[in-house]
Amino acid sequence: MTLEDTYIELKRKVGALIPDFEIRQKAEIACEINRLKVEKNAVILGHNYMEPALYYSVPDYVGDSLELSRKAAETDRDVIVFCGVRFMAETAKILNPGKTVLLPTRRGGCSLAASITAADVRALKEQFPGVPVVTYINTYAEVKAEVDICCTSSNACAVVESLGPGPVIFLPDEYLARNVARETGRKIIVPSRAPRTDPELDFQMIGWPGRCEVHEKFTVEDIDNARKQFPDVVVLAHPECSPDVVEAADFSGSTTAMVKFVQKAAAKRYLVLTECSMGDNIAAENPDKEMVRICSIRCPHMNEITMEETRDALLHLQYAIEVPEDIRIRAKRSVDRMLAVNADGAWKTDAA
Ligand code: 13P
Ligand code: SF4
Repeated sequence: MTLEDTYIELKRKVGALIPDFEIRQKAEIACEINRLKVEKNAVILGHNYMEPALYYSVPDYVGDSLELSRKAAETDRDVIVFCGVRFMAETAKILNPGKTVLLPTRRGGCSLAASITAADVRALKEQFPGVPVVTYINTYAEVKAEVDICCTSSNACAVVESLGPGPVIFLPDEYLARNVARETGRKIIVPSRAPRTDPELDFQMIGWPGRCEVHEKFTVEDIDNARKQFPDVVVLAHPECSPDVVEAADFSGSTTAMVKFVQKAAAKRYLVLTECSMGDNIAAENPDKEMVRICSIRCPHMNEITMEETRDALLHLQYAIEVPEDIRIRAKRSVDRMLAVNADGAWKTDAA
C-alpha cells in the first residue's frame, strides 16, 4: 500500500479519534513497518488492547489471547512480532522454538503474571496432591511448566469442565476463578485468604489471590451510574472483573467476544468494562454506536507497545524472547492441551 493509501485508510478508521497531523505521522511509520515486515519475513500479531492507530494499520492478525496463540501456532514466517505483553510473546515462543519472537518493549509485564511463581505452584500441588492445575495464560513459562493445562478468558469454563467434576486448582486470577466457579456451579476457596483448616474437601475449585490491576478497578457503582444516566446502555464486562461486576453486567466474555457482541447487537449504547483502548477500537469500527465513557483505564503494560517501538523491533530484531528448553517443553504440553479444547469465548448472554 502506498503512503497516501495508508493515510486514507487510517483516516477512515481513526479520523474521529486522532488529529490529522498524527494520522499522517502514523501512516508514515505504518508504511515503514509494513516494508520491514516483508523484508524480514515477519508476521505481526496485535492484541485487541493495542492503541487504535497501531491496531488498524500494521497487525496481520488482531484478536484475544486465544486467537493470537492459535495464529502463533500456525504461522510459517521466520519472525513473530507480538504487539501485546510478555506472557503472550512467551506463549508464541513456547509454540515456535525455531522462530525469532520479538516483543517491542523490554518489559511488557502484567499484574496477574507477576502474582505467582513456579515455587508457589509446587507448594499448592504439595498441599492438594493429585488435584489437576489450570493456569490462566497470563502467567510466565515457568508457571505454565508446572501445571496440567492452560486457559484463556475464551475457554476457561470449557477447560475446567474438560477436567471432569472433581476439584481443580485454578491460578492466578482470583476474580476469573470466582467467575468460572459461578458459571460452572462450583464452590471455591482461595487458600491465602481462608487457610485450609477443614479436613473435608467441600469445595471444587481452589483459587489464588492474583488480580488484574485494570479490571479490579471497575465497580458495580460504575454500572449503576451508567444505567442511571443511560437507561438503554448495554454493559459488557471482561471476566477479570469482580464477580459482582460480572453479575451486574449484561454480557461477559473475552476481549474478542466483546468486540463481536457490539458488532452484532442492535443496541445504540454500550459500556465496555475492559481497558480503554479497546473501547476506542470498537468505537472506530462502529460509528453508529456509542461507547459510554464513564471510567477510562489504560493497561500500562500494553501502553508500552507503540508504533515506533514496533518499527524498532523489526529494524533491530529486538527484544527477542527466550525460554529455557526444559521449561519450554513442559510449558508447551499445557498450552497444546488448551489449544485442543473448543470454546466460543462468550459467557453471559442476557442481552444478546
Ligand atoms: P483476552 O484473552 O480476553 O484478550 O484477555 C487478555 C487480557 O490480558 C485481558 O486483560
Ligand atoms: Fe495483565 Fe490486566 Fe494488563 Fe491484561 S489488562 S495485560 S491482565 S495487567
